[in-house]
Amino acid sequence: MPARVEQEAPLVVVANRPPATYRRGPDGRPSPVRGGGGLVSSLAPLLDGTGATWIGAAMTEVDRELAALGPRSYRGMQLELLAIDPEVYELAYDTISNATLWFALHGLFDRTREPTFNRSWRRAWDAYRALNARFAEAAVQAAEATPGSTVLVQDYHLFLTGTELRRRAPRLPAVHFTHTPFPTPEELAVLPDDVAVEILRSLGAFSSCGFHTERWRSNFAACCDTYDVSPPETFVAPLAPDAEELEHVLASERCQHHRAVLAERTGGRRTVLRVDRIEPSKNILRGFLAFEELLRSRPDLSGEVVFLAMTYPSRQSLPGYRAYRAEVERCVERVNASLGHDGWQPIQLEVADDFPRSLAALSLYDVLVVNPIRDGLNLVAKEGPLVNARNGTLVLSREAGVSAELGSDAFLVNPFDVSETAAAIGSALDLDAVERARRAKALAAVSRRRTPRDWLDDQRRSGQPGVP
Ligand code: G6P
Repeated sequence: MPARVEQEAPLVVVANRPPATYRRGPDGRPSPVRGGGGLVSSLAPLLDGTGATWIGAAMTEVDRELAALGPRSYRGMQLELLAIDPEVYELAYDTISNATLWFALHGLFDRTREPTFNRSWRRAWDAYRALNARFAEAAVQAAEATPGSTVLVQDYHLFLTGTELRRRAPRLPAVHFTHTPFPTPEELAVLPDDVAVEILRSLGAFSSCGFHTERWRSNFAACCDTYDVSPPETFVAPLAPDAEELEHVLASERCQHHRAVLAERTGGRRTVLRVDRIEPSKNILRGFLAFEELLRSRPDLSGEVVFLAMTYPSRQSLPGYRAYRAEVERCVERVNASLGHDGWQPIQLEVADDFPRSLAALSLYDVLVVNPIRDGLNLVAKEGPLVNARNGTLVLSREAGVSAELGSDAFLVNPFDVSETAAAIGSALDLDAVERARRAKALAAVSRRRTPRDWLDDQRRSGQPGVP
């Protein structure tokens, strides 16, 4: 466990997504809605009431109007919304952050066609630079307004803030945390050389850079070495769910209602579950293909088991994401049409963001499938064991960052190997009660080992001068 920082420095958190976005209520006044996603749900509660500043992009029209009025108070923190020019934002978020960096960091490109770096891509790269410069400028202003501040920059949307922060404030403690995987030098080489160097130099300008696992940290170090960039201090700090908060939500009426509905829907059958954004990196298609293969090879399971898929749409402005979602829906229809019978639907796909319902499902699974092609961490794999009430087992991709922590008590799979995944789901369903209980206990213990507070403290500490 890291030692707590005695004197807590004021924090300036810089992330693409703000902790809340604003909509107009029935009375016409702007009212905040807490943002979704792992980062906001883990970090925002720790900052409530602390006076910390959170700088994020204005997401709604109302956000943009409020941004013009300057920082505002939100749950005891200072919220600074940046109204980025919509065209710049779209190029930076869609073309660079999600269609280029996300794909490069997760190894998702179908290299026969993508990526292609041309003049219009370079225009988008300029937009990404401009957006990063804007965030860095706001961070320096906020830090200067509160002397002694530490700046914590989150994720790949803001890789280029480091250079700009250093230029403007050479001595400001500034930490970058990458929530995604970091690629090997060979994988990073898919980017134009000057772009790879620009990213690494900017990360090298931070006081330190953090990652969820040693694998991503050492890939980053190897990239710095290969591209001859001087590396910053680095650290490994896996995020973990807030177990108490999960229990609190689970006990809520809404969650209990969903539990009852889901139990009725599965009709007492054994339940395989996944909970994901609809996202190519999550490998949802191969998960369903594996389930199909299992059902075809094991007639005894026909009618006896359901695959509940709690998914929710993501980044629908990108054609690749829309196409992936359509393919997922077609795959479910095909499997259900060819294998379902007598009212039994082998796969039940839900497409809506509903955290209490997902949590209810996590309390009910017999097997949780987390099979990403690659993932920085994967919080669902830790949330499941914390709330599951059935000694559920875990089928886990060896490419998920969390496999470093949970791997020894899960069924580890190569995410591309559909047959191996099918066999793992089968073995997980067949496991005897004693071994199930042993594994479930071990998975829960590891998932409980750290808290979001530990993760935040690790970042805070690593920003202090002289703390490696
Ligand atoms: C990943 C990224 C986060 C991002 C989240 C949701 O977890 O690491 O930075 O916020 O996905 O994606 P979105 O594009 O909706 O913010």
